[in-house]
Amino acid sequence: MSYLDQLLFGYYPYICLTVFLLGSLLRFDRDQYTWKSDSSQLLRAGQLRWGSNLFHVGVLFLLGGHTVGLLTPHFMYDAFISAGNKQLMAMVSGGFFGVLGFIGVSILLHRRLSDDRIRLNSKTSDIFMLWLLWVQLALGLATVPLSAQHLDGSMMMKLAEWAQRILTFRAGAPELLAEAGFIFKMHMFLGMSIFLVFPFTRLVHVWSGVGTLAYIVRPYQLVRSRRLGMTPSTPLSQRQN
Ligand code: HEM
Repeated sequence: MSYLDQLLFGYYPYICLTVFLLGSLLRFDRDQYTWKSDSSQLLRAGQLRWGSNLFHVGVLFLLGGHTVGLLTPHFMYDAFISAGNKQLMAMVSGGFFGVLGFIGVSILLHRRLSDDRIRLNSKTSDIFMLWLLWVQLALGLATVPLSAQHLDGSMMMKLAEWAQRILTFRAGAPELLAEAGFIFKMHMFLGMSIFLVFPFTRLVHVWSGVGTLAYIVRPYQLVRSRRLGMTPSTPLSQRQN
């Protein structure tokens, strides 16, 4: 195994994860007013509706799919689905949602670069990040025909084992990628890099999107009307109109 492989797939994941977690925490602590999705809807709504919706539907599915697909240990699904069929499912669903996301991000990128008002209001990080996502989605889609050349699921199993070893701090992770092709490795490298730049961009809004799930289990809101002189403990007969 080359030193570069060891560096990029053995050490780099930990650098990215550390910057991602610590960086997000520090930004939330220090700069809460910059913690936003920075919508440009007020500047131009038309193309945003299609671009943003297609992109978000695609990318949210891919995010969930990658998390479940890569991090579920083999023994947990072994009895229900073979590695080959799991790979096929990932290729078909990932291909479909990948195309949606790619069309979406292409519209967003076109809109950001071609509309003067949006361009003037864009930070370098906004444009850089859209390009990063564009290339990353293109690379992800390019892996689909490559995976079709080995439908037994063996490569996918190795990639999943790599991710699980990294996250559980087990040795021998980069060695698993010995046979992975250049496109796979680029896709993995850029994927990790998205975590690296995450805290420095508007991507921090993804934390808030995930955080909204807490609304499902939070206690209901208690509304007390000062005008009507009502508190929950005031009996009805004593309340003023
Ligand atoms: C977790 C749920 C998410 C929610 C609720 C959410 C919500 C939003 C909102 C409200 C905006 C601003 C409105 C707009 O411009 O469309 C936005 C923009 C954006 N989001 Fe998300 N988002 C989520 C997840 C993600 C994910 C996973 C990514 C990519 C990894 C992402 C990338 C972006 C980008 C690049 C923009 C800027 C689009 C542009 O104007 O050029 N979002 N998001």
